Amino acid sequence: MAGTDEPDRASWLQGAAARCNPQPGKVDRPWRLILLGPPGVGKGTQAELLHRRLLACHLSTGDVFRTVGTKAECDLSPAMKAALDYMRRGDLVPDSIVWEMLLERGNCLRCGGGFLLDGFPRTLHQAESLRRQLENQNITLHAVVNYELPIEEIVHRLSGRRTCKNCKAVYHLTDRPPKLPDVCDLCGGALSQREDDRPESVKVRLEAYAEKTAPLIEFYRDLKLLLSVSAAGTPDEICTRTIEALQQRAKQSPAHT
Ligand code: AP5
Repeated sequence: MAGTDEPDRASWLQGAAARCNPQPGKVDRPWRLILLGPPGVGKGTQAELLHRRLLACHLSTGDVFRTVGTKAECDLSPAMKAALDYMRRGDLVPDSIVWEMLLERGNCLRCGGGFLLDGFPRTLHQAESLRRQLENQNITLHAVVNYELPIEEIVHRLSGRRTCKNCKAVYHLTDRPPKLPDVCDLCGGALSQREDDRPESVKVRLEAYAEKTAPLIEFYRDLKLLLSVSAAGTPDEICTRTIEALQQRAKQSPAHT
């Protein structure tokens, strides 16, 4: 990966051997965070902004699956082909496949610059596995930021989303439009609509969230890690709100390791 502070959402997708962005030595106080919330609430958008402010690596399991999905059919294992079918329908990918992929990038969890997990964990089983993995390696999870937004606004955000095929930067047709229609501001790549943003897949994703992911809110509340943040307003406002909530938490636990 490039050793700059510029967000490079695509760089760590190159695989397990990818280097950190930015170089871990630059970070005074690493944050290890999970970003939780329904599909389309803005986790990826916030992860990019938080990456600029906190310099922690942004790890998105959804981005990894989408990148795998661009490979030739013959290069995909049967398990990965099945995983991509789940994803296109809007269903969650089976835990075993997600976990295997996360382990491949286990170095990212040990990164001295901290991490922002976006889209993982998504089931109680994944959350338990992650808790054990972090405990075994003596890694402290500092907080789980839970973004909240009314359902109508979520559907609006999902239906207008456009993503760069090349660098994975995220736009919105009306709320975060690119400077030129269908062209990425950052790399000039073509923008397109995600397959799982079609209305029928969105419905399945929202149901999967309610059934399998929403229970994580109580799980992390019980562990005293939950920080609920409103996802209303502009991305910058939400980011500032998030940083304030983190600073508040840091004051309460000064021995931040
Ligand atoms: P994933 O890619 O993680 O999708 P998701 O969680 O459904 O989240 P999204 O990426 O849809 O939304 P987001 O919250 O990041 O919002 P964004 O910032 O883009 O996962 C996709 C699939 O992969 C899953 O369905 C599943 O199949 C599989 N998968 C991944 N991880 C898995 C796991 N751990 N276990 C099992 N399966 C897994 O914003 C949305 C839109 O709103 C954008 O257009 C953006 O520009 C706009 N926007 C953002 N903020 C604002 C704002 N403040 N105001 C106005 N517009 C805004």
